[in-house]
Amino acid sequence: MSLALRPHFHFAPARNWMNDPNGLIFYRGKYHLFFQYNPEGNQWGNMSWGHATSTDLINWQELPVAITYTPTHAIFSGSAVVDYFNTTGFGLLENPAMVAIFTAHQHDGLRQVQSLAYSTDEGLTWQQYEGNPVLDLEMKDFRDPKVVWNTVNEAWVMSVVKPHEYTVAFYQSQDLKQWELLSEFSNKNGTDGVWECPDLFPLAVDGDPTKIKWVLFVSVNPGGVTGGSGTQFFIGDWNGKEFVADDLITRWLDYGRDNYAGVTFCDAPDNRRIYIGWMNNWEYAKVIPENPARGSMTIPRELSLTTIGGKVTLVQNPVKEILGSGISDQTFVITPSETKSGIRFTNESGKSFDIGYDPSTQEVYVDRSAAWYEIESTSMHAAPFDADGKPFEIRVITDFGSVELFVAGGRVSITDLVEPSATPWSPAPF
Ligand code: FRU
Repeated sequence: MSLALRPHFHFAPARNWMNDPNGLIFYRGKYHLFFQYNPEGNQWGNMSWGHATSTDLINWQELPVAITYTPTHAIFSGSAVVDYFNTTGFGLLENPAMVAIFTAHQHDGLRQVQSLAYSTDEGLTWQQYEGNPVLDLEMKDFRDPKVVWNTVNEAWVMSVVKPHEYTVAFYQSQDLKQWELLSEFSNKNGTDGVWECPDLFPLAVDGDPTKIKWVLFVSVNPGGVTGGSGTQFFIGDWNGKEFVADDLITRWLDYGRDNYAGVTFCDAPDNRRIYIGWMNNWEYAKVIPENPARGSMTIPRELSLTTIGGKVTLVQNPVKEILGSGISDQTFVITPSETKSGIRFTNESGKSFDIGYDPSTQEVYVDRSAAWYEIESTSMHAAPFDADGKPFEIRVITDFGSVELFVAGGRVSITDLVEPSATPWSPAPF
């Protein structure tokens, strides 16, 4: 496949396999994106943390592999913090350590434990902590620690999953080394597959800092809303010990097929809550052709909570940095009619995909059937949306191999890979 088909605005490594975003963090003017990476090939394996940085979340510079797999274990997903108060003793107050908290996955598949690595040169070179692991329940599956300094607890708080038990366990620590269990949150109803990649974070409702709600993300695979991998979330409160969900309604972050294992940045400036997901689906990630890497990320998105129709609703939109970046970013007004209406995007090879609204089901959708590989998958991906007969906006970000929809100000999102196009997609109403 030609280099021209490489995503232009979505992060992808220069070569090889990539999956989940890891250790998203802002430090000294740069956003750091670490990611699940095979340094030696274009299939999943030899899992290590790749690394890229950006000052604007759009233009990324890939750096050398940050944390490499060892003879005994792979470096699975996790998070990163900057230890400003030197609670670990790994750095200095004048030059704090960046600390990665990741799952060490034993190569024989028998054990997953949580371990640390640290860097005192802004994430370029890393030492694995000699006291590893820092959290070992002697479990085969126990992974994806997301750690942040929690201001309610005045401590580091880790969210980590027991995948087969549909459980997120919360631990706290003063030094990232000794961890104490706080509580567990489970929801066994309506879940297939396993839980992965949790993230717990606060957001101000309607921008009011006195009205804080906590959001808990869990990625689910398989069992996503459109099949395969998907991300669910809960809204509730954090009381320093437990996450108390307002309800156990199943809410999906995205109704497309290709947004998985996403988490939010630590320490983003101006209190922004910025999210990136892996733009792929485990159901077919291994057979999607390379371009030339295998795997890319979603566009970074800013999250907020807004009251819509009396309900606190998670809203997501592309980060403001995409304005003027050259990315294809178009907003269409859809006026509901008796039948389906929307926009068809075509390219010079005669491929096309549709975005639209179906009044009979009250759904917005992407139909990628005419721009999809010879790979088995669903092609029609719809999200509930009641237009109430009134015109509404759909914002569409297209890159050569993907489409991302943000409906009615970002309250619904659909993210889908499409067959890459060598020419830009051009839209026309139908
Ligand atoms: C999610 C996941 C994680 C794991 C990583 C391994 O896509 O399965 O649970 O840590 O990928 O690459």
